[in-house]
Amino acid sequence: MTPGQHAVHPDGHSKAKHSRTDPARRKPPSTQPNPEPSARVIAIANQKGGVGKTTTAINLSAALALEGYRVLLVDADPQANATTGVGIPLQELSLHLYHCFISEVAPREVVRPTAVDGLDILPSHTDLVGVEVEFVDRAERERLLQRTLNTLRPHYHFIFIDCAPSLGILTINALVAAHSVLIPVQCEYFALEGLGKLLETIRLVRQSLNPDLVIEGLLPTMYDTRLLLSRQVLEELRYHFGDLVFQTVIHRNTRLAEAPSHGKPICLYDKHSRGARDYAAVAREFLARLAQYEKAQSSSP
Ligand SMILES: Nc1ncnc2c1ncn2[C@@H]1O[C@H](COP(=O)(O)OP(=O)(O)OP(=O)(O)O)[C@@H](O)[C@H]1O
Ligand SMILES: [Mg+2]
Repeated sequence: MTPGQHAVHPDGHSKAKHSRTDPARRKPPSTQPNPEPSARVIAIANQKGGVGKTTTAINLSAALALEGYRVLLVDADPQANATTGVGIPLQELSLHLYHCFISEVAPREVVRPTAVDGLDILPSHTDLVGVEVEFVDRAERERLLQRTLNTLRPHYHFIFIDCAPSLGILTINALVAAHSVLIPVQCEYFALEGLGKLLETIRLVRQSLNPDLVIEGLLPTMYDTRLLLSRQVLEELRYHFGDLVFQTVIHRNTRLAEAPSHGKPICLYDKHSRGARDYAAVAREFLARLAQYEKAQSSSP
């Protein structure tokens, strides 16, 4: 997809919501699947480190769960920041994504609920780092995550994959498994550095492994209204990528940085903070873009 094009939203998602009181929402995924949802899978990727991937993965997932959607957060980074960020200590983890890859266990047994109603996590662990070398000769090693998620998709409306800061095999797995990729971009010096390489990787994945992959959007993060630099970076992003850039920007907010050490998404840690309001706004914009696409689809002959 070229810059300026709108993200395409394939039919893999049902918009129907569950009410907050619907008891089905609290069923663990290992019980009765709801036949209605078939999750849209979104990879959150940028090989540049520290740009807000994990913060976005946790807080956008949580914001959508608060809207009544069933959401799975997949931690595909051996740093396991999304896992600890929703309150799961790594020392207590006996099962994680690696065990799904080696087919030792059904993915539904690895999924854990979080403190946010409607949000589950498929946790990661530092052991996942072995995948890069261990699976080097394995056939279809780019489809490990896709196979894992296929069994989980019927249980959710959205699956978000938090990627590692690399374009290695784990990120390729995420791009192969996903319908779309959401790219957080930090409003700092060198923000656009490396984006070309990421877009090229996305293009190559589309060519060979996942022709339907689209760009969901670029999300400006850590925006500081007081800094001319932040405004300049945002302008530059909009100039190069047009409507692909989310209208909502995530402001720099210390509460967002504090929340993971308390093992909580921002909506539980400080629901009145700027960060909580920003991620709630991104969730609404994300849903509005999806609705717009579905409307266009239904009105086209
Ligand atoms: N909007 C924000 N305001 C303030 N701090 C933020 C914000 N977003 C993220 N941070 C902080 O910046 C750091 C990097 O964020 P995060 O871990 O989300 O980035 P990442 O892209 O996932 O990093 P990595 O590439 O290492 O996986 C973290 O300490 C996080 O708490
Ligand atoms: Mg991260």
